[in-house]
Order: sequence, then C-alpha cells, then structure tokens
Amino acid sequence: MEFILSDTYEQMSGAAAEILAKELKRKPNAVFALPTGSTPIGTYQALAKQNREGQIDFSQGNFFNVDEYVGLSRESEQGYYHFLYTNLYQHVNVDLAKTHAPDGTAADPELAAIDYERQIDSLGGLDVAFLGIGRNGHIGFNEPADSLHYATYCVTLTESTIEANARFFASVDEMPKQALTIGIGTIMKADKIVMVAHGEDKAEAIRRLKEDTSLNTGFPSSLLRLHPDVTVVTTIK
Ligand code: GLP
Repeated sequence: MEFILSDTYEQMSGAAAEILAKELKRKPNAVFALPTGSTPIGTYQALAKQNREGQIDFSQGNFFNVDEYVGLSRESEQGYYHFLYTNLYQHVNVDLAKTHAPDGTAADPELAAIDYERQIDSLGGLDVAFLGIGRNGHIGFNEPADSLHYATYCVTLTESTIEANARFFASVDEMPKQALTIGIGTIMKADKIVMVAHGEDKAEAIRRLKEDTSLNTGFPSSLLRLHPDVTVVTTIK
C-alpha cells in the first residue's frame, strides 16, 4: 500500500485525478468504480477540467457507482447516482449509457445486487476502484462486521455511518438505513485501487490503515493490504 501525502485538499485532489486520468488515457474503455462523499468532489472537478481542456476523453469509459441507498431513485437528490451526475457526469463527455448505479428502487434489493455484480463482470470486472473511507474504516458501504461480503450486496448501515451521513437528509428518519454496495471481492478484483482521505474525522482511520497491520473485518479497509496495487492519497500525516 502506497501513501501519497499532500499538503492541501487541492493537491490531494489533483494527485488523485492524475492517477485516474492516466488510467483513462492508457485504456479509454476502462471500467471504473466511483465513490460519493465530500472527499472526492475536488478530484472530480480536476478531472472535469482536464476533460474541458481536451486532455482526457470520457466517451468510451464505463463508470459504476460504488454504492447507492435502498429506496432512492436515480433522480433523487440525495441519491448517489444523482451525486455522480451532478459532480462529474454533467461536466464531462461521458456516454450516460455507460454510467451505472445499483437500482435503489428495485422491489428485491438482493436481486438488484446480483444484477449489478453481473453488469460489472460482463465488462471484465473493474480496472480501477476509486474509493473514499468512512470514519469507521468502511469502504463503499462495506461496514465493519464479523464477516464481509465478496460481491455486491444489500447492507444495513451502522449507527456511525447513519450519524455521519444524516446531515445530507432533512432528518435522520429520512435517511435510508440500507444500501447496495459493491463487495470487498468486487474491489479486490480491480487491477488498481485508489483511495482519497481528508479531514480530522478520518485521521484515526488513516492512522490505523498505516500502522495496524492486522487484517480485520471490523475495519474493512484493512483488507486492502492484500491487494498489490493500492494508492492512498491523503492530507493526513
Ligand atoms: C459514504 C460512502 C463512502 C464514502 C464515505 C466518505 O459513506 N458510502 O463510499 O467513502 O461516505 O464520505 P466523505 O468523503 O463525505 O467523508
């Protein structure tokens, strides 16, 4: 696991965008998993700038949301597809037919999860998994648990995550308590993993990722140690 330390949020965003842009140039039809959250917004802005300036082309790339809330549609403003549309897709020359998210409105979320994993597999799996990290070490919505899931699945969110994300909803009651997330295996099968982390509330998680070398399903990002190509771009020392 390689750590790239940036002085500022802008530098971190630029460095992460550089890595992702390089992959898109190397393989224009690459398959990416993309996260939501406040942390990757600067990376998306830097990528959109590169696209505007003609340095990268999104038109052949395939983009999969890392996760989506159960109960929210593609149009829902708090939904994660909508987040990626607003923060990235509407600013770049992406082919929207090649942008995907788990179906949060499916009558059977378990079936929607299986279908999503199939969609990723049908394109040969992920080339790049771009990730944030939760305060509790979650990746995507793979929450700390006694056992983790290999493929995309329907997860019940932890109190820590509900507390962290409730700010995006009018009240905590309106926040979905379940989500669909790509699994640990979906992530581990990616050729390359890139993580961004910024802010005091992530400091403990990043320190633990750096210093504690155990593999612990109670701290899901620790599993990334098993992957040969992980870059964590962070402002956290
Ligand atoms: C949510 C998402 C994660 C993301 C995390 C961090 O929980 N499911 O994929 O990494 O938020 O978000 P932020 O960058 O806002 O701290």
